[in-house]
Amino acid sequence: MRAFRLSGNRVHFVPGWWLALPGTLVLASCSGNQSSLAPAGREAEQIARLFWWMTAGAVAIWLAVAGLFFYAVRRRTEPRSERWGRLLILVGGAVVPAVVLGGLLAYGLSMMPPLVNRAPPGTRTIAVDGAMWWWRVSYPGPDGRTVELANEIRLPVGEPVEFQLTSSDVIHSFWIPSLAGKRDMIPGRLTHLALTPVRTGVFRGQCAEYCGTSHALMSFDVVVVEKEEFAAWLAQQAAPARAPVESLAISGQKQFLANGCGACHSVRGTPARGLIGPDLTHVGSRMSLGAGILPNEPDAFLRWIAHTPTVKPEVHMPAFGMLPPEELQALAAYLEGLK
Ligand code: CUA
Repeated sequence: MRAFRLSGNRVHFVPGWWLALPGTLVLASCSGNQSSLAPAGREAEQIARLFWWMTAGAVAIWLAVAGLFFYAVRRRTEPRSERWGRLLILVGGAVVPAVVLGGLLAYGLSMMPPLVNRAPPGTRTIAVDGAMWWWRVSYPGPDGRTVELANEIRLPVGEPVEFQLTSSDVIHSFWIPSLAGKRDMIPGRLTHLALTPVRTGVFRGQCAEYCGTSHALMSFDVVVVEKEEFAAWLAQQAAPARAPVESLAISGQKQFLANGCGACHSVRGTPARGLIGPDLTHVGSRMSLGAGILPNEPDAFLRWIAHTPTVKPEVHMPAFGMLPPEELQALAAYLEGLK
């Protein structure tokens, strides 16, 4: 779209162009559960503040430049002196950018220590290991033993936590835009990210480093709840799986063990002790399946088990579409029932 047109030696500005800026802002939407501009954590609030100050600085410079442009094309003035021209270049080209950019740089750097420092000793730690393309999450449980789950993180509101981040294959990046900045997960290294959620809600985390074909399908749910609710949830996650009671689910458990699912997956309280894939002890209680890409319902379980590489290209889990439909349904009922 042309911002202006020329007729003769006059410049006419096209009004439609001016609608582009507010239109872009509306379309870019600053809300949602995966937005740095709708912060729900102390660190994300700082990042959002920095963004708005940066934006204000950019808009101020843009307005000044646009103003000069208008002035130059609209006003017919006598030629200026060489001294006036030099002064304009010095102030407009060196002093103003140096002051604005220097101020923003100092402001941004002053934010660094609280965003990159480790949390104080005694802070709750949660280990998250990135893998192609899912997240292994380990909490210290109520009895001190580790509680493992996958693709979902729950946090108590108002309490600082520190994530201890690792990767078991390639470089991933751990990012919950609503709560904090991002941190790389590097094979062979331990990195840290401390954050404090300030309001309850369901947020979305996403891998922020290209890590292969299904990088875009590597997300997770983050649920921030009140402290009492968090303690009850953690106690429930620490418990072994409940035995199925319905006949379909009982049959599903038999299929699960007979088809070798337990070689890769653990269901605590059963002979399934695999460590390669996600722990499924309470998979039915999670917000979503397949690392944030499917709703948690029997049909989605069935789709995942039967057509795994279609849902998530190049995933390590093989598809079990060769099983008869009734066996797939039984498996889905069993897994969905693991609340
Ligand atoms: Cu993991 Cu991108």
